[in-house]
Amino acid sequence: MKVLFATSEITPWVKTGGLGDVAGALPLALQQAGCDMRVLAPRYPALRDAFPQAHHLVHLPWMGGHLPGADLYEAESADGLKFFLLDCPALFDRPGNPYLGADGHDWPDNHLRFALLARVAARLSGAGTPVPGWRPDVLHCHDWQTGLAPYYLRFYESDGAATVLTIHNLAFQGVFSSDVMGELALTSSDWHMDGVEYYGYMSFLKAGLRHADALTTVSPTYAHEIQSPAEGMGLQGLLTDRASQLTGILNGIDYATWNPAHDPHLAAPYDREHLYVKAANKAELQRQVGLTERIDCPLFGVVSRLTYQKGLDLVAAAGDLLAEFPAQLVVLGNGEKGLETAFRELAERHPGNVAVTIGFNEALAHRIEAGADIFLMPSRFEPCGLNQMYSLAYGTPPLVRATGGLADTVVNYSAAGLADGSANGFVFNDATLDAVVGTARWAALLWHDKASWHQLQQNAMAGDYSWNGPASRYLDLYRSLRPAAT
Ligand code: ADP
Ligand code: GLC
Repeated sequence: MKVLFATSEITPWVKTGGLGDVAGALPLALQQAGCDMRVLAPRYPALRDAFPQAHHLVHLPWMGGHLPGADLYEAESADGLKFFLLDCPALFDRPGNPYLGADGHDWPDNHLRFALLARVAARLSGAGTPVPGWRPDVLHCHDWQTGLAPYYLRFYESDGAATVLTIHNLAFQGVFSSDVMGELALTSSDWHMDGVEYYGYMSFLKAGLRHADALTTVSPTYAHEIQSPAEGMGLQGLLTDRASQLTGILNGIDYATWNPAHDPHLAAPYDREHLYVKAANKAELQRQVGLTERIDCPLFGVVSRLTYQKGLDLVAAAGDLLAEFPAQLVVLGNGEKGLETAFRELAERHPGNVAVTIGFNEALAHRIEAGADIFLMPSRFEPCGLNQMYSLAYGTPPLVRATGGLADTVVNYSAAGLADGSANGFVFNDATLDAVVGTARWAALLWHDKASWHQLQQNAMAGDYSWNGPASRYLDLYRSLRPAAT
């Protein structure tokens, strides 16, 4: 089974969120399950520098519109994953974030950048591929950034691979003005309801959702939610229409990177049998971020993009009350300026009890997972969420809203659940300040009951959140689309 995995970010080189983590782990898990994988990603500076030995495979001539000619490089990571790196310095040789310039705004040519990625993914997956000796049976795309690939493949190539499009976040739909059609080598014949048109605009994601052979999203609950007007973000009609081709496959986590027993970022690695060692990580974290070294109250942790999706305005608003429980709070995140300011101000009001780091910091993210007592994730919607699974693996019970993948992975505390091993965190329903504060207060109280808390941590750490199960479900899906491929 040959699979081309087309992605706009990949851990550990280029990451803005969970998609990067998934792309860094799932292809390897699929390879271990027997697939012959190639990852197609833009040759951003970080990937160019990571693979100085990459060799030039082929030149890709102009493919119409304003899509520039490009080059394909071949590389292999230390763990044996093979890459096709799409080299086009005019579009990808830029510092920092793959989607945003230094001013925090989208790059103005994102439509061209990701249309080129999608166009090349399609070219490599059809009869006209310029790559000798390797053609995929399945092209697996992710989010709007590669959403146009199934469309280009169906209408602009022949004898194409089967296509799978995974929705990691329906909030990002790749919507652009109709003016860009010509630039993307699309014509008026593509401009209709079953093409790329979307309420008078063009949408990369919509085109892919209409034309990929199979659709997946990253949790079973989110697969249901997005078929409703409340969560479908305008695409619910199309998704309902395609319900029989839409499945929810829960993400896994990469234990090579997220394992408290072998985490190089931690002051004191620990496992289920040595949970008492976790306290040393709390003390170190408190020191590092400037919190008072208290052991008499729980420490709540947040690692997140600061956006409306994540419900962190509720945490910012709850912060003053948290400090009264008493409890401490450590936050790492970046994103919306209003939320960044709200958290900064909260920290200023509670020196020693609230610490806020604005920025993206991989090492600190690991230290918060290990050093906090309770991990907060009150998301308004959450396709899957990886952080709650990291915190489960680190024995840091998550406190989450019952939505998407959070509902599929976190089981609310109860005496019965504690005893039968199912309860592993705290779950509330309403995205309200009362619900967040009430549940946090309850969790903070329970934290003082050391025996029950220890059992809750044991339950959390006993779960298997690895990629093995999800990878075999993707493989089953690929086989259902291409039964002849072995
Ligand atoms: P999303 O993809 O919606 O942001 P996920 O929970 O799936 O949410 O994945 C988020 C990933 O990004 C996790 O690996 C998390 O640790 C990481 N992350 C988010 N914000 C930061 C940050 N400010 N610094 C370091 N890592 C972060
Ligand atoms: C998205 C979602 C997140 C999910 C991640 C990886 O960014 O917001 O819930 O875990 O993709 O699939």
